[in-house]
Amino acid sequence: MTTAAAIRAADTRAEARALSAAATTAGQAPSIHNTQPWHWRLTDNQLDLHLDHSRGLEVTDPDSRLAILSCGAAVHHALVSLAAAGWHVALARLPDAENPDHLAQLRLDHRIPVTPTAIRHLQTIGLRHTDRRPTSSATVDADKLRVIVAAVASAGAGLHVLRPDQVYDLATAADHAQHTEADEAAWQAELQHWTGGTRPLGSGIPDAAIPHHTPQTTVPGRDFGHHGNLLVSDAHDRNAVFAILYGTEDTTLDWLRAGEALSAGWLTATELGVAVLPLSATIEVTATRAFIRHLLADLDHPYLVLRFGAHDPADGPAPHTPRLPANQIIERA
Ligand SMILES: Cc1cc2nc3c(=O)[nH]c(=O)nc-3n(C[C@H](O)[C@H](O)[C@H](O)COP(=O)(O)O)c2cc1C
Repeated sequence: MTTAAAIRAADTRAEARALSAAATTAGQAPSIHNTQPWHWRLTDNQLDLHLDHSRGLEVTDPDSRLAILSCGAAVHHALVSLAAAGWHVALARLPDAENPDHLAQLRLDHRIPVTPTAIRHLQTIGLRHTDRRPTSSATVDADKLRVIVAAVASAGAGLHVLRPDQVYDLATAADHAQHTEADEAAWQAELQHWTGGTRPLGSGIPDAAIPHHTPQTTVPGRDFGHHGNLLVSDAHDRNAVFAILYGTEDTTLDWLRAGEALSAGWLTATELGVAVLPLSATIEVTATRAFIRHLLADLDHPYLVLRFGAHDPADGPAPHTPRLPANQIIERA
């Protein structure tokens, strides 16, 4: 082998390693009920992301809006990983008009300097988590919120922070959505399939991440239909901030971009010490989704509700939620 050929072979191996690491890192992304509805196909210098309907929620998420949003978060995680490996990526969203499940294509484009910010974001992926415990009595710093809103905006979505009167409207809608879901047997069956127990298969939400009693909160959190093992204090999250992740249209592309923005905002919040809890019940139920749209003056479309709060220093370490093994989500061509 000539020197040039050996260098080229080494480059190809390095590219494959970076892409493989990106797909593995993307597996840490948040997803509705921890379904991880993504499938990555890895070729020489390219990663293709497909929606995996086998881990979709037919009843809760019939349009796959929350699954696609989750995939968007995975795309952003992959981009963070590749930036930390010194790669600029050419990203094509929905690259195949004939196949709407082909959500994204990431191609290594050219080398870029690795920045301390890129390394920090990659480290933050390992720290980010959903925290269903009450937030502390400390208020969320307005400057930190502005930085989170800017991070979401830079990734292509909006974040509307609700006024106190709107939070009460949100609470009413969340209560209505929970009752609608609780009344439907198919909805409950799907929830029970994905939550509770010890989850040996690496997906779904284990009891360790489900509160052992209903936390005191202004806006009801997810009603899992049973209590788990997560210790929660009797504190009330009255100083939490509630916000709507939104955008101008309501298409697959918008849900994908919303997921990227969710990841960008969540990683930024984590770096600022702000806890994040997504609340999607009002988005899942058509009537309450329309109601949440009123809170945006009917101008934009809501994708997800988020609670932001200061971490309660009395809380122990964050609960661990498992992930599927890489060989179940990554296919090497
Ligand atoms: C689109 C979306 C919707 C979610 N909805 C809720 C929700 O309504 N209630 C909740 O407690 N967690 C919700 N989550 C958090 C997921 O359950 C969580 O991301 C998943 O279990 C993985 O755990 P982790 O975020 O700690 O890694 C949602 C996450 C996403 C991405």
